[in-house]
Amino acid sequence: MIPDETVERVRESADIVGVIGEYVDLKRQGSDFRGPCPFHQGTGRNFSVSPKKMMYHCFVCGEKGNVFTYLMKRLGVDFPTAVKMVGEKSGIEVIETKSGRADEKDTREPLWEVNGAAVEYFRQTLWEDDLGLNARKYLEEREISRELAEKVGIGFAPREIGLMRAYLNTLGFDDERLIESGLLHLPEGSTEPRPRFRDRLIFPIYDVSGRVVGFGGRLLGPGEPKYLNSAESPVFSKGKLLYGLNWAKQAARRDERMLVVEGYFDAVRLIGAGIESVVAPMGTALTEDQAKLIRRYTDHVYLLYDSDKAGLKATFRSGDELLAQGAAVQVVTLPDGEDPDTYVRTHGARGLESQITSSIDVFERKIQLLERGGWFADLRKKRQALDRLLPTLRATSDSLTRDMYLGHAAHAAGVTRELLERELSAPPRSRTGRTTARSPAPPDQQFPPPEDHGYRDQRPERPLVRQGDRRRVAGERASSAERELIRVLLHRRGYFEQVIERAGEESFRDDDMRRIFAAMALHGADAGPDVLAEHLDGDAVVVMQSLLEETGGLDHADEAVAGSLSAMHERSLTDRMAEIDREMPIASEAQKDELTAEKMKLTEELRRLGGRWWKKFR
Ligand code: UTP
Ligand code: MN
Repeated sequence: MIPDETVERVRESADIVGVIGEYVDLKRQGSDFRGPCPFHQGTGRNFSVSPKKMMYHCFVCGEKGNVFTYLMKRLGVDFPTAVKMVGEKSGIEVIETKSGRADEKDTREPLWEVNGAAVEYFRQTLWEDDLGLNARKYLEEREISRELAEKVGIGFAPREIGLMRAYLNTLGFDDERLIESGLLHLPEGSTEPRPRFRDRLIFPIYDVSGRVVGFGGRLLGPGEPKYLNSAESPVFSKGKLLYGLNWAKQAARRDERMLVVEGYFDAVRLIGAGIESVVAPMGTALTEDQAKLIRRYTDHVYLLYDSDKAGLKATFRSGDELLAQGAAVQVVTLPDGEDPDTYVRTHGARGLESQITSSIDVFERKIQLLERGGWFADLRKKRQALDRLLPTLRATSDSLTRDMYLGHAAHAAGVTRELLERELSAPPRSRTGRTTARSPAPPDQQFPPPEDHGYRDQRPERPLVRQGDRRRVAGERASSAERELIRVLLHRRGYFEQVIERAGEESFRDDDMRRIFAAMALHGADAGPDVLAEHLDGDAVVVMQSLLEETGGLDHADEAVAGSLSAMHERSLTDRMAEIDREMPIASEAQKDELTAEKMKLTEELRRLGGRWWKKFR
């Protein structure tokens, strides 16, 4: 049997319109959907499906029921099978138990339970304890009412170490469970468990069924990290959860939209203003799982990320995930320096709704930013711009939308539709090969941002290109050459003058090598390792240390320096060759001539280089 609770959860999260829509041609009518009745094989649109009531009903033959009865009657499956089918669509695991009763509880139950008790502790500390005074003031300053705070379960974790533990122990939760839940942790070499959250405002994070699966804690004052979330655990998986979904799920169906904001406070502010169709991923762009989750409730999504660099990155990354799930995605751009929290605080829900009305499609927004940044102006940048648009085109699963995007992209870039179509059907460029010759763009030109997953603290990944053997070999040689060059320079600083004439920071692709080189350039040839180390992060220091320990072959330093520089130069030439091959198809006739001439020059130069230095040096 399937536990009642599971059945209820599956029923609640089911997309009844989506399920029945697979078999019946449903069209929206008001808040319901209508189609020909599959039960009496009617032709008129007398069969109605209500997402709100989660029921279907035929006005002619009187058939009615819920998503499970539909599948049972139409497909002839039994009840457990129907529940499993629907559960699978919603990503809810349906496990049959012998009795279907509480004696075979979910193993996660103890963690939900202790988290629930902790919510109560944090709540009491916030509102009923002197220790909560500053937190209460903080909420007052941010204009979060007690009513709103209680609705979303906000609490406070005091700085004191033993209080929560004592409270929860008294309720019968032992330390083992507190540690398993992540509320406490045992510092290395200690027997005294300590709370994870201290002196932080606490946002309980609920799963879609309203169970407390984790917490987000905000420091009251300045400090790092500003927000601390629960650690990943069997109940808390950040990339699969959305803050606010438990409240938003009904509202999103009703409002036929979902708003996506960055943070807890944004979501809470909107909820307080009566806008409940809002969720916040926790410090990341939307993951595939999260996009699927949203898509279960609506196909209209509005992204309200900040317009700073990190926010834009998250916007487009999330956009791609949502487009892949077939959603229509709009971007809401608030005035500079505002986020949904501050905006609603001053302009209210109506102000925000009017901003939502003037939102623009996520792909249009991408094109708009590229145009404004002059990214379609010259050939090299245009190539990069197209490389940013293509993944989104590829991701877009709805064919009508993709077709429309294709037309817009071709128009904006001034290339033919056919060209883009050809590029689209070509396999996407490898993301595991070597990097291109491109040096990192200056910071003010870094739109479009490199695509990556999280956006708060990751290194940008450079775009990668498929390439021929010569280029691969040149690339491999050059990366050992970088290392060798830095090694020699570390031991024989006298070569620095000669190197800096032929190479700059941008000649180094390896982050650590580039940083060590930059530190040398900054401090001059005489700076000792400890001075250099001050400008390096831990990884680079370790790398430098190991280079300093390698003392072999330094009597051939002359050749090593010359050989390394040549290898790095050869790499930049082969990279530029590959880039030209990619620019050629989008070039005008005149530009094609220029590219061809450049290519001939490069070929000649490469021929002259021929690798002779390297052979000697090896
Ligand atoms: P923001 O720093 O934009 O948060 O991070 P915010 O909500 O505007 O914060 P306030 O208004 O200063 O309080 C957005 C979200 O990113 C996650 C949190 O989920 C936060 O709500 N985040 C941020 C972290 O997980 N860790 C951090 O250190 C910062
Ligand atoms: Mn904020």
